[in-house]
Amino acid sequence: MSGGVNPSSAHDVGRVPVELGRRSYEILVGGGLIARAGSLIAPQLKDRRVLIVTDATVGRLYLEELVHSLEAAGIRQESIVLPPGEATKDFRHLEELCSRMLQARIERGSMILALGGGVIGDLAGFAASIVLRGIEFIQIPTTLLAQVDSSVGGKTGINTGQGKNLVGSFYQPRLVLADIDALDSLPRRELLAGYAEVVKYGLINDPAFFTWLETHGADLIDGDHAARRHAVMTSCAAKAAVVAADEREADQRALLNLGHTFGHALEAECGYTGELLHGEGVAIGMVMAFELSAMLGLAPSEDAARVARHLGSVGLPTSPAAIGRGFDAARLVHHMRQDKKVKDGHLTFVLARGIGHAFLSRDVELPQVEALLARALAA
Ligand SMILES: NC(=O)c1ccc[n+]([C@@H]2O[C@H](COP(=O)([O-])OP(=O)(O)OC[C@H]3O[C@@H](n4cnc5c(N)ncnc54)[C@H](O)[C@@H]3O)[C@@H](O)[C@H]2O)c1
Ligand SMILES: [Zn+2]
Repeated sequence: MSGGVNPSSAHDVGRVPVELGRRSYEILVGGGLIARAGSLIAPQLKDRRVLIVTDATVGRLYLEELVHSLEAAGIRQESIVLPPGEATKDFRHLEELCSRMLQARIERGSMILALGGGVIGDLAGFAASIVLRGIEFIQIPTTLLAQVDSSVGGKTGINTGQGKNLVGSFYQPRLVLADIDALDSLPRRELLAGYAEVVKYGLINDPAFFTWLETHGADLIDGDHAARRHAVMTSCAAKAAVVAADEREADQRALLNLGHTFGHALEAECGYTGELLHGEGVAIGMVMAFELSAMLGLAPSEDAARVARHLGSVGLPTSPAAIGRGFDAARLVHHMRQDKKVKDGHLTFVLARGIGHAFLSRDVELPQVEALLARALAA
């Protein structure tokens, strides 16, 4: 997991298996995968016909390259281009997407290619799971967040007026192509937001990976492809292991929510407008989860400080006070109570006994959380 990175390896294709019985698949990680997509995808196809779903920003950057490679492999294709942004992940665009798939005379043997970030992956994956009662799909994630998180694990869905990701399905792709080169065009802020999820895997159960990130994280963010490839592979393997053990989040999969209870509360207050990106909320949330663990005497306070130091060093926010809006501790705790993961009025918190030693706890008292938040906001 840790150790050095072989610089010549950036263009080798790494393979991360996701073991889910009959629904097992591979995540391919490497450079130039979009340019080679046709030959990589061809073995998965029943009909030599695919429907590409993308957003306008990603389409402008990568659609031509993808189409070219499909044509070279003799695969017929059509594409549907949706507007970029979180607002696209809604019922209206789901309806539009399903209608356009049917207008394109999609068949059970067709394949959907989701080319884009988590918004396109979640929406196209959900549409694939319901159109004609299920068409196979392949993820081609183009954001760091999508490569290390949303394209792995089979959660698909849309947002509704009641909240995020409340309508959806578990639906696994046939293949994931994580093209490291695509990250070159990603705005730095989006890259950093995805990086928070990378750090999360180290904090959950891989202290050596966290140490590796302390050394190589800055290079990765500055464009080092070999470091990016290593981090994406390690993250995908970490998520794949958790998902293989607990696909439908009966228990252990909830560890992946480290930092998310705090993060979701901050996001809900900010209103999903781009004021606070999901990964930024998660970065703050992970620091708060470690501070809470330290406050409860479970983790060394030095570990909480180390988490904050690393996230802050790459440019991620580490405190709710950094967002520059007057959050209110009681309101944030109120949002936590609304979380869909509340069971019998009890929140499941992800706490830690130290870096790389996260665990689930249902014993956290919300007044303690409120006190911690109030302190962080006053600082
Ligand atoms: N299914 C899951 O398990 C899961 C897990 C985590 C997050 N998510 C979901 O993922 C979504 C967030 O994903 P995201 O952060 O990828 O957002 P996104 O899909 O909105 O992409 C972020 C922005 O980057 C642009 N973009 C994408 N790739 C680019 C590239 N290579 N170069 C330049 N610009 C590019 C997009 O057009 C968009 O404007 C949320 O809806 C979240 O709920 C799902
Ligand atoms: Zn997340």
